[in-house]
Amino acid sequence: MLTRDFSSVGLVLLTLFQTSLAVKPSPGCGKTTTFGNGNHTATVNQKQRWYLTKLPESYNNTHPYRLIFTFHGLADNGATVANGEKSYLPYYGLPPLANDDIGAIFVSPTGLNAGWANTGGEDLTFVDEMMKTVEDNLCIDQDLRFSTGFSYGGAMSYAIACARAKQFRAVAVLSGGQLSGCQGGKDPIAYYAQHGLGDPLLPIAGGRQMRDNFVKNNGCTAQTPQEPRSGEGTMVKTKYQGCSAGHPVTWVAFDGSHIQTPVLKGATQTFAAVETWEFFSQFK
Ligand SMILES: *[C@@H]1O[C@H](CO)[C@@H](O)[C@H](O)[C@H]1NC(C)=O
Ligand SMILES: *[C@@H]1O[C@H](CO)[C@@H](O)[C@H](O)[C@H]1NC(C)=O
Repeated sequence: MLTRDFSSVGLVLLTLFQTSLAVKPSPGCGKTTTFGNGNHTATVNQKQRWYLTKLPESYNNTHPYRLIFTFHGLADNGATVANGEKSYLPYYGLPPLANDDIGAIFVSPTGLNAGWANTGGEDLTFVDEMMKTVEDNLCIDQDLRFSTGFSYGGAMSYAIACARAKQFRAVAVLSGGQLSGCQGGKDPIAYYAQHGLGDPLLPIAGGRQMRDNFVKNNGCTAQTPQEPRSGEGTMVKTKYQGCSAGHPVTWVAFDGSHIQTPVLKGATQTFAAVETWEFFSQFK
């Protein structure tokens, strides 16, 4: 009895210790601000941009939250993702899962011409601007910045992995392609990707190439992961071995097309949100 009590106290102390070591509070921590949920604008290279934010229900300005960017695909916008229109789940289905003791603040930006061409790096500059504004106003753990997106939004998350690996903790690229460039592209960053075998728009071969760039950067052991057979309605998830500390790579190949919410045979809900969350939430 006594031993058990001591060990649980020890565990709590250890957890507190690890948490306090890791947290890097943003300038917005402790600040009272009117910056809240909803639509925000920014001017980047003389162009007006906008993005939507979602705060936890009882936002606590001294608690450092994760910051999660959710980028839309071509022909959509920040509201399509935020509201869960078309085939999207709201913020890619992450908010209900992110309801743990760290929590998350979500940012859903809008691209120019409904895409993320990132011409001359202007979308990366937009990301830098949003990050600064959000973190100057809200309490973010600057070691816990994430990005995800589908299709063109996956491309933009890939561009972030290439150019902002030191600022972001992890990315999740959902059926992405190299459409937003890869400036730098040499630094390690935790990398999750999922791709449909039968993707007619951005073929899986491209997704494998993007993945392999980070398999290399992250120092993982190269391999040719198994993929499901067409018609099986399944997915195969591969966690790469040997990656450097803090830089895992997970690859999911699924039997399906170009879709942000693939559902496996016999399932009622997509695995995309759960897998993305499992990957992001390993970082505390
Ligand atoms: C956000 O504000 C911008 C600029 O005023 C506007 O163009 C855009 O439609 C707004 N988005 C939403 C979802 O209200
Ligand atoms: C706000 O967050 C701080 C830091 O995590 C915590 O100590 C405090 O108890 C929280 N306040 C509320 C009302 O939850």
